Amino acid sequence: MDPALRANRDLWDAWTKINFGSAFYDVASFRNGERSIRLADYELAEVGPVEGKTLLHLQCHFGLDSLSWARVGAIVTGADFSPEGVATARALAAELGIPATFVIANLYDLPAELDGQFDVVYTSNGVLGWLPDIAGWARVVAHFVKPGGFFYVTEIHPVAQVFENEDVQPGELRLTYPYWSHREPLTFEVHGSYADPSAPTDGLVEHGWDHSLGEIVSALILAGLRIEFLHEFDFANWPIDFLVQGADGRWRLPPGTAGQLPLFFSLKASKPVA
Ligand SMILES: C[S@@+](CC[C@H](N)C(=O)[O-])C[C@H]1O[C@@H](n2cnc3c(N)ncnc32)[C@H](O)[C@@H]1O
Repeated sequence: MDPALRANRDLWDAWTKINFGSAFYDVASFRNGERSIRLADYELAEVGPVEGKTLLHLQCHFGLDSLSWARVGAIVTGADFSPEGVATARALAAELGIPATFVIANLYDLPAELDGQFDVVYTSNGVLGWLPDIAGWARVVAHFVKPGGFFYVTEIHPVAQVFENEDVQPGELRLTYPYWSHREPLTFEVHGSYADPSAPTDGLVEHGWDHSLGEIVSALILAGLRIEFLHEFDFANWPIDFLVQGADGRWRLPPGTAGQLPLFFSLKASKPVA
């Protein structure tokens, strides 16, 4: 495996242990509420009913979203390259009696590790920035969508990623990072996890890549999928220093900010029946 991906995998193994116990993921509520699901209302509405459908969750972390889809009736397979993430997902599924299958694989190697095609291929919330090759990602996505099925992603908007996101004030937009894909990763020392910034993570680094919205959409089209919609949102699903939290729990530019900025997006793409 590429050394940058190997370092990211080590990081995700460490973050899984931290994140599992964090208030951010609130596993206790998920455990205690048989109907507790960790999916946004807009995703549920945009994906539509999944009862009885096969659903592949790419980059599933420790499976809370995968198990949420199972709780609303999907027949779920989750995949992630972190052995710790997958082991935790399997253990949680077994503990809660939720049927789901989990596979350990680097995303790019998944077609060699997992057979079959799925009615729905799903991925969300902090996934694309870990991937060096967006065209290769789109080919993997398209490989797993059944003809007549679809792919759905909701993710931070690439435009929101170009601004410094730490140690800035609400509303302070400081142009800092690339918009288009770059070969070499951006590398950062890690301090804690996004779910628990105070957790010890000495010596861990993260490697990330950017991909423009045009590159993401074009890669999916080139891989044979048909774009059904691309929605851009004025909110982010997690804290960013230049945003403020609203009453609905989402993060937006401070009220009164002049102009507008897309902060998150969702996209649905179908695979035509040949
Ligand atoms: C931010 S998490 C996804 C978050 C998930 N939506 C959640 O909140 O539970 C990103 C996931 O991508 C996985 N990942 C990163 N690079 C990967 C790769 N090359 N192949 C497979 N999984 C990868 C990580 O292990 C991690 O679980």
